[in-house]
Formats: sequence, C-alpha cells, structure tokens
Amino acid sequence: TVDQLTRVEEVEKYLEPFQLSLEMLQEVSARLRKDLIRGLGKRSHHKAPVKMLPTFVRATPDGTEKGDFLALDLGGTNFRVLHVRVEEEEQRVLKMNSQICAIPKEIMLGTGEQLFDHIAACLGEFLESQKLKGQTLPLGFTFSFPCEQLGIDKSILIRWTKGFNCSGVEGKDVVKLLKEAIHRRGDYDIGTVAMVNDTVGTMMSCGYRDQNCEIGMIVGTGTNACYMEEMKHVKRVEGEDGRMCINTEWGGFGDDGSLNDIVTEFDVEVDKTSINPGIHIFEKMISGMYLGEIVRLVLVKMTKDQLLFKGQMSEALRTPEQFETKLISEIEDGLDNTKKILTTLGLDWEPVDACVVRLVCDTISSRSARLCAAALATLTNRIRTNRKLDHLKTTVGVDGTVYRKHPTIELQKAVCLLAPRCDITFLVSEDGSGKGAAMVTAVAQRESCVRSDDE
Ligand code: GLC
Repeated sequence: TVDQLTRVEEVEKYLEPFQLSLEMLQEVSARLRKDLIRGLGKRSHHKAPVKMLPTFVRATPDGTEKGDFLALDLGGTNFRVLHVRVEEEEQRVLKMNSQICAIPKEIMLGTGEQLFDHIAACLGEFLESQKLKGQTLPLGFTFSFPCEQLGIDKSILIRWTKGFNCSGVEGKDVVKLLKEAIHRRGDYDIGTVAMVNDTVGTMMSCGYRDQNCEIGMIVGTGTNACYMEEMKHVKRVEGEDGRMCINTEWGGFGDDGSLNDIVTEFDVEVDKTSINPGIHIFEKMISGMYLGEIVRLVLVKMTKDQLLFKGQMSEALRTPEQFETKLISEIEDGLDNTKKILTTLGLDWEPVDACVVRLVCDTISSRSARLCAAALATLTNRIRTNRKLDHLKTTVGVDGTVYRKHPTIELQKAVCLLAPRCDITFLVSEDGSGKGAAMVTAVAQRESCVRSDDE
C-alpha cells in the first residue's frame, strides 16, 4: 500500500548515514594508509591510534617445521587449551586434542592474578587428562589483545579491549604472569613460550598450506589484521633486511576522531555505554561484540518514531545487549526467520515490520563488511607498492564468527573495487589461533636453529 511505501522510504532515509559510497570507502582507506605510516614511525607511533605492533615473527612457515606443542587461546568468547602436532612429511598441523574452559564474567572483570590462576588451572587439568604432565612442551600463547612485544616471549599488555578488564595486567609482561601462575601451582611446567596475536596465528596456520598467505584477518568478537611489512619500514626494530609481521590493531582506527564524519549517533551511543569509551572506534562499527547493539539502538529509535511495531516496544528490545549479533545473520537468512525472532523478542509485528527489520540488519552488516574491505584493501595495496609490483597475488587467512556467519561476497566485492591490482584469495583458517600459535613456536624454533648453525 501507499502507506507502506512511504514508510519504507522514510526508513531508507533513516539508514542513509550507514550507507558508505565507494568514494567514501576510498577516503577511509586513504586515511588508514596514513595511520599505518604514523604507527610504524619511530617518533610518531606513541600517539598513533593504529598501533602497528612488531610481532617478532619474521618468517612464514616453509614446510619443514615439526614437533608437539601446547597452545593457549584467550581473547574471544572462550578460553581454549590445545595439544597440537606439526607433521613435516604430510605438511599438516594436527589438533591432537583440545579443551574449552569458560571464563566467567567475574574473572573477565576481576584481578589479573585470578585470571592467570584460572588459565593455569585449566591447562593443568588438560595436561592431566592427556597424560602430558611429565613433559615440558613448548607453548604458543594466542593472546588477542594489543601487546608491545619486546621479543617472541616477552609481551607487555598495552590495554584490554573487547569484554576484558582485569586489574594489574596492563603494562605487565603476560608471559611472566602466566609462568608465575604455573609456578604458584608447582605441579607441572612448560617449555619455551611464544606469544601470538590471533591475527598472526591465523596467518601462520594458513601459511602452512599456502605460502602466499601474508595477511591474517579476524572479524569476530573484535576485528584486526596483521601483514608482512618490510623490515626497513619497521623503524622501531633494529635491522633493515627481510620482513616482519606487524599486528596493525586496526580496531583503534578512528580513536583520534579521524572517522567522526562517518560515525553515526548509534555508534556514539554504543561507544559511550561500552566498558572502554573512546577506544577502538573502528572495531565498534564492525565486530560481533557491537553489531547487535547497533541494530537494537536503531530499532528502538524507529519504534519511538512510530516506524515500527506501531510504536510498541518490548522488554527485550528495551534491554541493552539483548539483541545478540548472531540474530543479524539469522534475520538475513529470510523473512520467516525474522518473524520468528521478532516473536521471541516479544514484539507485536506486521509483515512490513519484518521487512524493515531485515533491511536494518542488512544495512548494518553490509557497512561492517565494506569498512572491513576498505581496511583490508589498504593492506594489500601497501604490500603491492612496498614490493613495487604492478600486480599482487596474495592470500588472506581469515577467522572469526562474523566472517564465518555472514555472506562474505559483499566484503570481497568491495575489496576488488578498492584494490583493483590485487588478486586476493581468502582462506578461512580452521582452528587458526590454536594451530597458528603452534606454528609460530615451531618457526621460531626453526629460525633459532638456523641462527645457531650460522654461528
Ligand atoms: C581486538 C584486539 C586485537 C585482536 C582483535 C580480534 O581488536 O585488540 O588484538 O586481534 O580484537 O580478536
């Protein structure tokens, strides 16, 4: 009906600020390019919103790595412990076994000592069940927060992001805190430790299968990427030769206000009510921890403005964080799904409401994909110009629930437009952070053998 048509038109106007044109995405990519350079600079990095952290990972796998490893994975929704075997002959990384431990909210927001005691207890339990307690295996620790690494086994937490906020950890060496917790128990020990961001783990786990893999990207609870940068541009680390993997921490893009012209009132609200206001503005427009809340805020305002549900709210819609991000992809799957979900949320809907809600979800998730594409294009374009190539063929290892659950075609289409001279293959990493951490540990061991052979 005419009434419904004008309603849809009004809704579209409402959603306009979320629609980013190709020109705008190019502009976003250009701004990020400048921020990458600021983050790499010796003097400029202190104030840079995009931190560009050296990872001390200098080489991607060459296929000769092998051995048994432990891996820890902290930073998403769960904490995991894994036993991983890297097999040289078959060129594969096998997950022998793994265990998931929940991290209760009290621990996520408690003291650092409680957190590391909890981690050490989970690891102990796992070693016991796998009869590995007597061995001292090397351990890869995927710790998915921004860390200033002073070496592969020395890693200072700059600040917590996402849902974590444990006291007494920022500014401290995470490896030391882990080892101290293990020694407090005294019933087992671990070998050498390698610290890894989840982006790096993802890149490295794909790198065993595809040696063109030089970017790792996460679109999950948070978002971030790493890539192989020329050592001569990494001004904060000695040496000019070869490459080093840089953890960009692109989630912090916009923290100096550089994205204010595309940030909507809803983004501002999500940021204000988060546990870390002002921090990780780009991440808050893209990743799983926040997308559901953005959608909820849009729906609330539309309802107040009589554009939805005859102006009637429900308890669930009114409650922060009640609209989970996973609902977005379920709604995008179809109108029948949408209607079911609206009913579960206690809303009294008409068919047109379902269409509008679906449009809102499509819009928010498509903005997330396009922003991510702009950032990724910045990295591939940089690698291409770094190497003075006319054309770059590269592989991106990807992981994260948002990437896995949403149609990725939007992201891929936008990257093609924004990085026309890059031919990009996407490889979804299986168990990236766990296996990747083992790979980093293995490559570090291989490299240190090579170095001592040279001497
Ligand atoms: C957050 C963290 C970053 C991590 C990303 C994805 O942005 O700061 O280190 O890689 O989430 O988990």
